[in-house]
Amino acid sequence: MIPIITIDGPVSSGKGTVARQVAARLSWHLLDSGALYRVLGLHAQRLGVPLDDEMRLVDLAERLPVTFREGKGDTVVILDGEDVGNEIRQERVGELASQVAVLQPVRDALFARQRAFALAPGLVADGRDMGTVVFIDAPLKIYLTASAEERARRRHAQLKEKGFGATLATLIEDIRTRDERDMKRDVAPLKAADDAVVVDSTEMSVDQVVQRILDEAAARSLT
Ligand code: DC
Repeated sequence: MIPIITIDGPVSSGKGTVARQVAARLSWHLLDSGALYRVLGLHAQRLGVPLDDEMRLVDLAERLPVTFREGKGDTVVILDGEDVGNEIRQERVGELASQVAVLQPVRDALFARQRAFALAPGLVADGRDMGTVVFIDAPLKIYLTASAEERARRRHAQLKEKGFGATLATLIEDIRTRDERDMKRDVAPLKAADDAVVVDSTEMSVDQVVQRILDEAAARSLT
């Protein structure tokens, strides 16, 4: 049995940062499942495949020529020989990802690929449905959340650092809209697994959240 920690939660909850740090502390593998949806969206767009053409998208998802390799502080993502790590992080590609992510056959096609990340000595899997669908058998499931205001503040700080402007009020509104869409969609809606540990990070630092997860893992003898 490969030990697996799933970390699910809403947009800007800090899942990505926390998952990376937990994986690094344990020297475990990391699955950034959102990156798979992003790469698929980008690949489809580049090949001119319409984002509602389920059959062709499934075909692309099954043969997606992508590899992930952990680099210093981030993941190197190679699509068809090209490093697309920066490009897939753009809002534009996030939008493509969210369109392909609502198609159940596409999600099914990516299922085996995500499961294949479960390798010794262990896996930290970050996404929306890691604990509810993909790794339903994981011995530790975390649902990481924070208030919409706090998530908007974090996003605001991130954008400012990159030199982009956006008002806090607009960001709060955006986050509320995305929460609503993610939680109400028919396909793999965002929700905490029944057996998830819910961690509200509104008043916690990244280090505190990471430590909390490591403590939960130790309490289950996973580490
Ligand atoms: O976490 P992210 O922003 O990289 O995710 C990109 C898109 O993919 C977002 O619209 C949610 C979707 N997604 C999903 O449906 N299921 C996952 N396990 C991960 C991401």
